Formats: sequence, structure tokens, C-alpha cells
Amino acid sequence: KAPACTLVIFGAAGDLTKRLLMPALYNLASDGLLPDGLKILGIDHNDRTTEQWRDDLSQTMQSFTQDRTSEFHPDSIDPDHWGFIRERLNFTKGDFEAADTYQRLGHAISGSVIFYLAVSARFFGPVVDHLGTAGLLKEDEGAFRRVVIEKPFGTDLASAQALNARILKQADESQVFRIDHFLGKETVQSIMALRFANGMLEPIWNAHHIDHVQITAAETIGVEERGAFYEPTGALRDMVPNHLFQLLSMVAMEPPGSFDAEDIRNEKARVEEAVRPVAPDHAVRGQYAAGEEQGRSVLGYREEDNVSQLSCTETYVALKLSVENPRWSGVPFYLRTGKRMAGRLTEIAVHFKPPSHGLFAGTDLAPNIMRLHIDPEQGLSTQWNAKRPGPEMHLGAVTSSFRFGDFFAETPSVGYETLFYDCMVGDPTLFQRADAIEAGWAAVDPLIQAWADAPVEAYAAGSDGPAGADALLARDGRAWLPLK
Ligand code: BG6
Repeated sequence: KAPACTLVIFGAAGDLTKRLLMPALYNLASDGLLPDGLKILGIDHNDRTTEQWRDDLSQTMQSFTQDRTSEFHPDSIDPDHWGFIRERLNFTKGDFEAADTYQRLGHAISGSVIFYLAVSARFFGPVVDHLGTAGLLKEDEGAFRRVVIEKPFGTDLASAQALNARILKQADESQVFRIDHFLGKETVQSIMALRFANGMLEPIWNAHHIDHVQITAAETIGVEERGAFYEPTGALRDMVPNHLFQLLSMVAMEPPGSFDAEDIRNEKARVEEAVRPVAPDHAVRGQYAAGEEQGRSVLGYREEDNVSQLSCTETYVALKLSVENPRWSGVPFYLRTGKRMAGRLTEIAVHFKPPSHGLFAGTDLAPNIMRLHIDPEQGLSTQWNAKRPGPEMHLGAVTSSFRFGDFFAETPSVGYETLFYDCMVGDPTLFQRADAIEAGWAAVDPLIQAWADAPVEAYAAGSDGPAGADALLARDGRAWLPLK
């Protein structure tokens, strides 16, 4: 069980709290990992009573049982496990930018506290300033004070540096837990085991044997009701320096000296710092136009709510990155992410070089590709060449694969459980340190500048993305793996 503490949620009435934080707490309660001494204090601007907040959340939790599309869709809500959370919920109305909110908060809390900022990014700085000024981040003997910060962390390198500096004026780095929910995904955590617990992989995981790496995060959904957030953000800021860089750092980092959080985070930061700033001619931006998704017509991005009809915001981005260190020099990392694509697919595909011995040269040799499936499948598959049965030596491409669920009991997860638990026990391994965040922004900063007024290439909703993205790889004699 995690140690007793108070969880203060700023943004208690928000979407994140309902959709992910409560389900994650419920799953942790079901696993018996939450302490009896847990208290949950919700803060938001709107008027409501504790009883109303509890009822609201209870209703939302029930509604998930009918919603097969949500990340959390249990057959039923266990009354004991939800009851454990429900009875610990208390609500207080408060303006995030008013000093008096923090004075009241100060009287309501004692001992160990996690302040969870499930709020719009513009409040990150002000909330942490107020917490610091009110003395709420001071750690007494034997008690902790931690701040969990959601993304987006800044909008470019300069703003991320300024936000880090502002936060670190009030809190020590050890108190700051910057969340990237991709690190909560089980398959992402398993990359370290795959790479460093298997003697057959580590010796070939380098530029001598690997031709290139493709990292994909493709979604079929559009911008949904988040137009107002997405318009000034775009796919690059929303997904690349954070989520895709997390995948890149897991797959490319050097083996850490130990499981110590700082050893791991040092290696991740080091590899992110080795990513060269992306040149604009190594990048493609696209925006979905009207098209079809699963047989039904869908709107183009410019027709979505809260989106300008002239918008040049990208909903797709493809990049070619180089990681300049001895392990990866000369191995391109191609990254792509987009909304309204032909398939939902988050994966890392490692393409190996052909064998150096030319016995089969000139035949139709399929590349060896190891695909780490992150979403929606969770597992791994590898493409090999095998001899087709028969009297002659003809090759055929075959795959071997596994899903985690074939071997291990899967525990229900919305991706925030481990992150919550780790924050309660004080393990920062899966949280981003200031230097890694800044390294991610530093790599994409030239694009942010170059794209300020750049046009955007249209692609049909439900397609594989803009033609320019295919051309980016074709120039190197390579092609993206299909999304379906
Ligand atoms: C979020 C982005 O951080 O990640 C969204 O803001 C995106 O735009 C989401 O849809 C993708 O996460 P997942 O876990 O659904 O792949």
C-alpha cells in the first residue's frame, strides 16, 4: 500500500478527473494499493457541494460500464472499491489564482500531500507560485509535498525553460512530478525489460545492425471537442517533444547503471540531448480534410468546432531525426503522428539491415522488422525470412509475435495507475525531469519557428497522411509501414 497522504486535485470538475483520474484511483483501490489514510480534496471554480461532486463522479463511473469506447469500461462498478474512493472525496470551491484559496487549503491539509494540477496549462505557473507563497510546499520531517504537472509543459523551448525556472523557485526538483501518460503505458515500461533483459537483443541494438526506426502514433479520432486547445497547439507540440520523444528515449537510451530513478533519467535525458534539432526540410505537416472514417463521412479539421476556416494548424506531422551518438549515428529515426488516420496504431518498428554475408543477395529478401506494439495491441512481432517448403530454396516473409495478454494476467488500467502509485511512494522514474523536457523542445524548436506562417498539406480523413510524408522516406529509399 502507498503511504497515507492527501491528494489535492486542482480541476476537480474537469474532464481529466472524471475520465482518467477517478478510474485510475478506482483500479488502485481494487488492487488494494491505496492507504486507509488517503484523503482526496477536489478544488474547482464552480459551485457545488461535496455531496454533489460525489454523486457526479459516481454517475460518471457508472456510465463507463455502458461505454465500450472509453479507456475504462468495466462490466460493473464494485460498490466496495468505489465506496472506498467516494467516502474520501471532499470538494471545496476555489479560484486557482486567488491567495485566499491557498490560505483555506492550508488549514484543510496536513502531513503528506500531492497537489495534482489537472488544469489548463496556463494555471501551472500561478498555482505553483501560490502553493509556494502560502508555504504549502514546505516538507516537514517525515512528510512529503509533491506537485504533479500535466502536459502541455510549455509551448516551445523558451516557455518550457521559463516554466521550469518558475516552478523550481518554489519547489525542489525532487518534489516535481511532470506527467507524460505514455510512460504509464505498460508496453512502454516493458521496453527496458525487452532491451536489457534479453542477451540476444542488446548486441545488435545499434547502427551496425539497425537500418532505421519508425515511431508511429496514429489516431482515427479527430480533434473532437478540443478545437480551442488544439488550434494554437497542433500535432507537433501536442505529441512530439513529449509522447514520441518518450518512446524514442526508451528505445534509444544507453543501458542505465541501475534501476535508480536518476540513473534511468540521466540516460533518457542524454539521448534526448543527442537528438539534433530538426531541419524544416526533414519535416512534413498535414491537416485532415473531409473524408471517411469506418464508412461514415467525417468533417475536415477546418469545419470542426472552435477551429478557424483558414486554420493552418497541423493535425499530422512526420519527421526525420538523427541521434548523434556512437550507438545511433547514421540511423534515421522517422516519427509520425496524426489524427483522423486510416488506423489506430502506436508502435515502434525497428528495421534491421540485411545480413552482411551475401548468400541471399539478389533474392527477394524481406527486411527483419521488430515491431513493439503499444496501442491498441500490446505485444511484439518480428518479421523474418524463412525457406518456403519444397525442393527449391525460395524465401518467404513470416512473422512471430506475442501479446502480453497471452502470457500474463492483464490488470485493468487507464494508464495513470502506476503514475499515481509511483508519485505516492515517491518514485520519479516514470516522470519527466526538467532537462529531458527542455531537450525535447530544443529538438523541435527550429520547426516551431519555421512553421509559424507555413502552409499545411491536406490529407483526406481516414487516409495514411499527406503525400509529403511518403516522399520524406522515399527520398531515402524507404517507406512507412502501413497503418492497417
Ligand atoms: C494526449 C493528446 O496527450 O494524447 C491527445 O493531447 C492525444 O491529442 C492523446 O489524442 C493520445 O493518447 P493515447 O493514450 O490515446 O494514445
